[in-house]
Amino acid sequence: MSRLRVAIQKSGRLSEPSLALLQNCGLRFSRSKDKLFWYGKDFPVDLLLVRDDDIPRMLLDGVCELGIVGQNVAREVMIERNGGEGLDQLRALDFGQCRLSLAVPEGSAVQSAADLGGRRVATSYPGLTRELLAARGVQAQIVELSGSVEIAPGLGTADAISDLVSTGSTLRANHLVEIEALFESTAALFGRAAELPADRRELFARLLSRLDGVLQAAESKYVMLHAPRDALGAITALLPGAEHPTLMELEGDPDRVALHAVCREALFWEHLEALKAAGASAILVLPVEKMLA
Ligand code: PRP
Ligand code: ZN
Repeated sequence: MSRLRVAIQKSGRLSEPSLALLQNCGLRFSRSKDKLFWYGKDFPVDLLLVRDDDIPRMLLDGVCELGIVGQNVAREVMIERNGGEGLDQLRALDFGQCRLSLAVPEGSAVQSAADLGGRRVATSYPGLTRELLAARGVQAQIVELSGSVEIAPGLGTADAISDLVSTGSTLRANHLVEIEALFESTAALFGRAAELPADRRELFARLLSRLDGVLQAAESKYVMLHAPRDALGAITALLPGAEHPTLMELEGDPDRVALHAVCREALFWEHLEALKAAGASAILVLPVEKMLA
Protein backbone atom coordinates (compact mmCIF):
# COMPACT_ATOMS: atom_id res chain seq x y z
CA MET A 1 0.00 0.00 0.00
CA SER A 2 1.35 3.45 -0.88
CA ARG A 3 2.45 5.72 1.93
CA LEU A 4 3.54 9.32 2.25
CA ARG A 5 6.50 10.71 4.15
CA VAL A 6 6.45 14.05 5.91
CA ALA A 7 9.68 15.62 7.15
CA ILE A 8 9.60 17.92 10.17
CA GLN A 9 12.28 19.54 12.31
CA LYS A 10 13.73 17.14 14.88
CA SER A 11 14.41 19.71 17.57
CA GLY A 12 13.96 23.43 17.49
CA ARG A 13 11.31 26.10 17.19
CA LEU A 14 9.25 24.31 14.54
CA SER A 15 9.30 20.77 15.90
CA GLU A 16 6.55 20.95 18.51
CA PRO A 17 3.98 22.95 16.50
CA SER A 18 4.69 20.83 13.40
CA LEU A 19 4.01 17.59 15.28
CA ALA A 20 0.93 19.07 16.98
CA LEU A 21 -0.48 20.10 13.61
CA LEU A 22 -0.09 16.59 12.18
CA GLN A 23 -1.58 15.05 15.32
CA ASN A 24 -4.56 17.39 14.97
CA CYS A 25 -5.00 15.90 11.49
CA GLY A 26 -5.56 12.56 13.21
CA LEU A 27 -2.09 11.12 12.60
CA ARG A 28 -0.64 8.80 15.25
CA PHE A 29 2.88 7.45 15.15
CA SER A 30 4.81 4.61 16.70
CA ARG A 31 8.08 6.16 17.71
CA SER A 32 11.09 4.17 16.72
CA LYS A 33 14.15 3.87 18.90
CA ASP A 34 16.47 5.90 16.71
CA LYS A 35 13.78 8.59 16.71
CA LEU A 36 14.42 9.61 13.11
CA PHE A 37 11.60 7.64 11.52
CA TRP A 38 8.14 7.40 13.05
CA TYR A 39 5.71 4.96 11.49
CA GLY A 40 2.16 6.24 10.93
CA LYS A 41 -0.27 3.93 12.71
CA ASP A 42 -3.84 4.59 11.60
CA PHE A 43 -3.15 6.62 8.48
CA PRO A 44 -0.43 5.72 5.93
CA VAL A 45 1.71 8.79 6.58
CA ASP A 46 5.16 8.40 8.17
CA LEU A 47 7.30 11.03 9.80
CA LEU A 48 10.96 11.85 9.29
CA LEU A 49 12.59 13.91 12.04
CA VAL A 50 15.54 15.80 10.61
CA ARG A 51 17.45 19.09 10.70
CA ASP A 52 15.20 21.81 9.29
CA ASP A 53 17.90 22.89 6.83
CA ASP A 54 17.87 19.42 5.25
CA ILE A 55 14.12 19.39 4.53
CA PRO A 56 14.06 21.31 1.21
CA ARG A 57 16.83 19.14 -0.27
CA MET A 58 15.08 15.97 0.91
CA LEU A 59 11.95 17.15 -0.91
CA LEU A 60 13.89 17.96 -4.06
CA ASP A 61 15.64 14.58 -3.92
CA GLY A 62 12.35 12.72 -3.47
CA VAL A 63 13.21 11.35 0.00
CA CYS A 64 9.87 12.63 1.29
CA GLU A 65 6.74 14.02 -0.36
CA LEU A 66 5.93 16.73 2.20
CA GLY A 67 7.91 18.87 4.59
CA ILE A 68 7.25 21.60 7.13
CA VAL A 69 10.00 24.20 7.13
CA GLY A 70 10.58 27.95 7.27
CA GLN A 71 10.01 29.83 4.02
CA ASN A 72 13.49 31.31 4.47
CA VAL A 73 15.13 27.87 4.43
CA ALA A 74 13.11 26.76 1.41
CA ARG A 75 13.94 29.92 -0.54
CA GLU A 76 17.63 29.59 0.26
CA VAL A 77 17.78 26.07 -1.16
CA MET A 78 15.83 27.06 -4.26
CA ILE A 79 18.32 29.88 -4.91
CA GLU A 80 21.20 27.49 -4.29
CA ARG A 81 19.77 25.17 -6.96
CA ASN A 82 19.66 28.06 -9.44
CA GLY A 83 15.94 28.56 -9.02
CA GLY A 84 15.61 25.78 -11.59
CA GLU A 85 13.82 23.22 -9.53
CA GLY A 86 10.96 24.53 -7.47
CA LEU A 87 9.21 23.51 -4.33
CA ASP A 88 5.51 24.25 -4.08
CA GLN A 89 4.38 26.07 -0.99
CA LEU A 90 1.17 24.16 -0.33
CA ARG A 91 -0.01 25.99 2.80
CA ALA A 92 1.43 28.80 4.90
CA LEU A 93 1.25 27.96 8.61
CA ASP A 94 0.63 30.16 11.60
CA PHE A 95 3.85 29.46 13.49
CA GLY A 96 7.59 29.94 13.07
CA GLN A 97 7.32 33.65 12.38
CA CYS A 98 10.75 35.25 12.03
CA ARG A 99 12.62 37.59 9.73
CA LEU A 100 15.99 37.60 8.04
CA SER A 101 17.49 40.89 9.16
CA LEU A 102 20.67 42.85 8.84
CA ALA A 103 22.30 43.69 12.16
CA VAL A 104 25.45 45.58 13.09
CA PRO A 105 27.43 46.13 16.31
CA GLU A 106 26.07 48.86 18.58
CA GLY A 107 27.61 52.19 17.54
CA SER A 108 28.50 51.04 14.02
CA ALA A 109 28.66 53.62 11.23
CA VAL A 110 26.57 51.26 9.10
CA GLN A 111 22.96 52.34 9.43
CA SER A 112 21.18 50.79 6.49
CA ALA A 113 21.60 48.19 3.78
CA ALA A 114 22.88 50.91 1.46
CA ASP A 115 25.94 51.42 3.70
CA LEU A 116 27.02 47.80 3.21
CA GLY A 117 28.47 48.15 -0.29
CA GLY A 118 31.87 46.38 -0.36
CA ARG A 119 31.59 45.41 3.32
CA ARG A 120 31.56 41.91 4.82
CA VAL A 121 28.22 40.39 5.81
CA ALA A 122 28.26 37.10 7.71
CA THR A 123 25.28 34.79 7.17
CA SER A 124 24.01 31.23 6.95
CA TYR A 125 21.71 32.40 4.15
CA PRO A 126 24.19 33.46 1.45
CA GLY A 127 21.84 33.07 -1.52
CA LEU A 128 18.92 34.92 0.01
CA THR A 129 21.11 37.66 1.46
CA ARG A 130 22.96 38.23 -1.82
CA GLU A 131 19.69 38.33 -3.76
CA LEU A 132 17.92 40.70 -1.36
CA LEU A 133 20.92 43.03 -1.10
CA ALA A 134 21.26 43.05 -4.90
CA ALA A 135 17.57 43.99 -5.14
CA ARG A 136 18.52 47.05 -3.07
CA GLY A 137 21.45 47.78 -5.38
CA VAL A 138 24.03 46.71 -2.79
CA GLN A 139 27.05 44.52 -3.57
CA ALA A 140 28.43 43.21 -0.30
CA GLN A 141 31.03 40.58 0.40
CA ILE A 142 29.18 37.55 1.76
CA VAL A 143 30.95 35.57 4.49
CA GLU A 144 29.20 32.22 4.67
CA LEU A 145 28.99 30.61 8.12
CA SER A 146 27.05 27.51 9.09
CA GLY A 147 26.20 28.73 12.58
CA SER A 148 26.96 31.21 15.39
CA VAL A 149 26.72 34.04 12.89
CA GLU A 150 26.06 36.51 15.71
CA ILE A 151 29.62 36.30 17.00
CA ALA A 152 31.27 37.16 13.66
CA PRO A 153 31.37 40.96 14.13
CA GLY A 154 32.91 40.58 17.60
CA LEU A 155 35.58 38.30 16.16
CA GLY A 156 36.35 40.87 13.47
CA THR A 157 35.39 38.57 10.59
CA ALA A 158 32.39 40.64 9.44
CA ASP A 159 31.03 44.18 9.56
CA ALA A 160 27.42 43.07 9.74
CA ILE A 161 25.33 39.93 9.89
CA SER A 162 22.24 38.78 8.04
CA ASP A 163 20.50 36.37 10.37
CA LEU A 164 17.12 35.18 11.55
CA VAL A 165 15.50 37.25 14.26
CA SER A 166 12.55 35.97 16.22
CA THR A 167 12.42 37.50 19.69
CA GLY A 168 15.58 39.57 19.17
CA SER A 169 17.24 38.19 22.28
CA THR A 170 20.19 36.70 20.39
CA LEU A 171 20.97 40.11 18.90
CA ARG A 172 20.67 41.88 22.27
CA ALA A 173 22.88 39.31 23.99
CA ASN A 174 25.57 39.98 21.38
CA HIS A 175 25.25 43.78 21.39
CA LEU A 176 23.97 43.89 17.85
CA VAL A 177 21.25 46.19 16.53
CA GLU A 178 18.83 45.35 13.76
CA ILE A 179 19.02 47.86 10.93
CA GLU A 180 16.79 46.40 8.23
CA ALA A 181 14.54 43.39 7.73
CA LEU A 182 15.20 41.71 4.39
CA PHE A 183 12.69 38.87 4.41
CA GLU A 184 9.65 37.99 6.53
CA SER A 185 9.11 34.29 7.02
CA THR A 186 6.75 31.77 8.60
CA ALA A 187 6.69 28.01 8.59
CA ALA A 188 4.94 26.45 5.61
CA LEU A 189 4.08 23.07 4.19
CA PHE A 190 6.10 22.38 1.06
CA GLY A 191 5.91 19.62 -1.51
CA ARG A 192 6.20 18.93 -5.21
CA ALA A 193 2.71 18.23 -6.44
CA ALA A 194 3.83 17.61 -10.04
CA GLU A 195 6.30 14.90 -9.00
CA LEU A 196 3.81 12.97 -6.94
CA PRO A 197 3.35 9.35 -8.11
CA ALA A 198 -0.23 8.64 -9.21
CA ASP A 199 -0.80 6.07 -6.46
CA ARG A 200 -0.19 8.67 -3.77
CA ARG A 201 -2.30 11.54 -5.08
CA GLU A 202 -5.49 10.55 -3.34
CA LEU A 203 -3.76 10.18 0.00
CA PHE A 204 -2.01 13.51 -0.51
CA ALA A 205 -5.34 15.25 -1.24
CA ARG A 206 -6.92 13.62 1.82
CA LEU A 207 -4.13 14.82 4.09
CA LEU A 208 -4.35 18.35 2.68
CA SER A 209 -8.10 18.39 3.19
CA ARG A 210 -7.68 17.37 6.85
CA LEU A 211 -5.00 20.01 7.23
CA ASP A 212 -7.28 22.68 5.81
CA GLY A 213 -9.92 21.56 8.27
CA VAL A 214 -7.51 22.01 11.16
CA LEU A 215 -6.24 25.37 9.92
CA GLN A 216 -9.74 26.70 9.38
CA ALA A 217 -11.06 25.35 12.65
CA ALA A 218 -8.26 27.11 14.52
CA GLU A 219 -9.61 30.50 13.42
CA SER A 220 -13.27 29.60 13.28
CA LYS A 221 -15.83 30.15 16.00
CA TYR A 222 -19.42 29.06 16.36
CA VAL A 223 -21.50 32.09 17.33
CA MET A 224 -24.96 32.02 18.86
CA LEU A 225 -26.94 35.16 19.63
CA HIS A 226 -30.39 36.67 19.89
CA ALA A 227 -31.23 39.48 17.49
CA PRO A 228 -34.17 41.74 16.71
CA ARG A 229 -35.69 40.61 13.39
CA ASP A 230 -35.35 44.09 11.93
CA ALA A 231 -31.58 44.23 12.70
CA LEU A 232 -30.75 40.85 11.12
CA GLY A 233 -29.11 42.34 8.03
CA ALA A 234 -26.86 44.63 10.06
CA ILE A 235 -25.95 41.88 12.52
CA THR A 236 -25.14 39.31 9.84
CA ALA A 237 -22.91 41.86 8.11
CA LEU A 238 -20.93 42.29 11.34
CA LEU A 239 -20.04 38.59 11.65
CA PRO A 240 -16.56 38.13 10.12
CA GLY A 241 -16.42 35.42 7.48
CA ALA A 242 -19.88 34.00 8.19
CA GLU A 243 -22.07 32.59 5.43
CA HIS A 244 -25.70 31.49 5.65
CA PRO A 245 -26.54 31.81 9.33
CA THR A 246 -29.26 29.59 10.77
CA LEU A 247 -32.30 31.39 12.21
CA MET A 248 -34.58 29.95 14.88
CA GLU A 249 -37.81 31.16 16.47
CA LEU A 250 -37.67 32.35 20.06
CA GLU A 251 -40.61 30.95 21.99
CA GLY A 252 -42.85 33.79 23.18
CA ASP A 253 -40.82 36.57 21.53
CA PRO A 254 -41.94 37.08 17.91
CA ASP A 255 -39.79 40.19 17.37
CA ARG A 256 -36.49 38.46 18.09
CA VAL A 257 -34.79 35.38 16.66
CA ALA A 258 -31.88 33.14 17.62
CA LEU A 259 -29.05 33.22 15.08
CA HIS A 260 -26.30 30.62 14.77
CA ALA A 261 -23.32 31.05 12.44
CA VAL A 262 -19.77 29.84 11.89
CA CYS A 263 -17.32 32.73 11.65
CA ARG A 264 -14.29 31.69 9.61
CA GLU A 265 -12.20 34.70 10.57
CA ALA A 266 -10.87 35.80 13.94
CA LEU A 267 -13.54 37.19 16.21
CA PHE A 268 -12.40 39.92 18.59
CA TRP A 269 -14.05 41.72 21.50
CA GLU A 270 -14.59 44.66 19.13
CA HIS A 271 -16.80 42.46 16.96
CA LEU A 272 -18.89 41.41 19.97
CA GLU A 273 -19.25 45.02 21.13
CA ALA A 274 -20.40 46.04 17.66
CA LEU A 275 -22.92 43.19 17.60
CA LYS A 276 -24.29 44.26 20.95
CA ALA A 277 -24.54 47.87 19.79
CA ALA A 278 -26.50 46.64 16.76
CA GLY A 279 -29.07 45.01 19.06
CA ALA A 280 -27.71 41.50 19.62
CA SER A 281 -27.94 39.92 23.06
CA ALA A 282 -27.11 36.58 24.72
CA ILE A 283 -23.98 36.33 22.55
CA LEU A 284 -22.11 33.03 22.92
CA VAL A 285 -18.85 32.20 21.14
CA LEU A 286 -17.75 28.55 20.99
CA PRO A 287 -14.54 27.03 19.65
CA VAL A 288 -14.72 24.76 16.60
CA GLU A 289 -12.71 21.59 16.94
CA LYS A 290 -12.86 20.04 13.47
CA MET A 291 -14.21 21.14 10.13
CA LEU A 292 -14.65 19.35 6.83
CA ALA A 293 -15.93 21.44 3.95
C1 PRP B 1 18.00 31.62 14.70
C2 PRP B 1 19.12 32.61 14.53
C3 PRP B 1 19.43 33.07 15.93
C4 PRP B 1 18.12 32.87 16.65
C5 PRP B 1 17.38 34.17 16.77
O1 PRP B 1 18.46 30.33 14.78
O2 PRP B 1 20.22 32.05 13.89
O3 PRP B 1 20.42 32.26 16.50
O4 PRP B 1 17.34 31.98 15.90
O5 PRP B 1 16.24 34.03 17.59
P1 PRP B 1 15.90 35.13 18.69
O6 PRP B 1 15.72 36.44 17.95
O7 PRP B 1 14.61 34.66 19.29
O8 PRP B 1 17.00 35.19 19.67
P2 PRP B 1 17.44 29.06 14.66
O9 PRP B 1 16.68 28.87 15.92
O10 PRP B 1 16.65 29.18 13.43
O11 PRP B 1 18.42 27.86 14.61
P3 PRP B 1 19.00 27.14 13.32
O12 PRP B 1 19.56 28.18 12.45
O13 PRP B 1 20.00 26.20 13.90
O14 PRP B 1 17.85 26.42 12.69
ZN1 ZN C 1 18.14 25.37 11.19
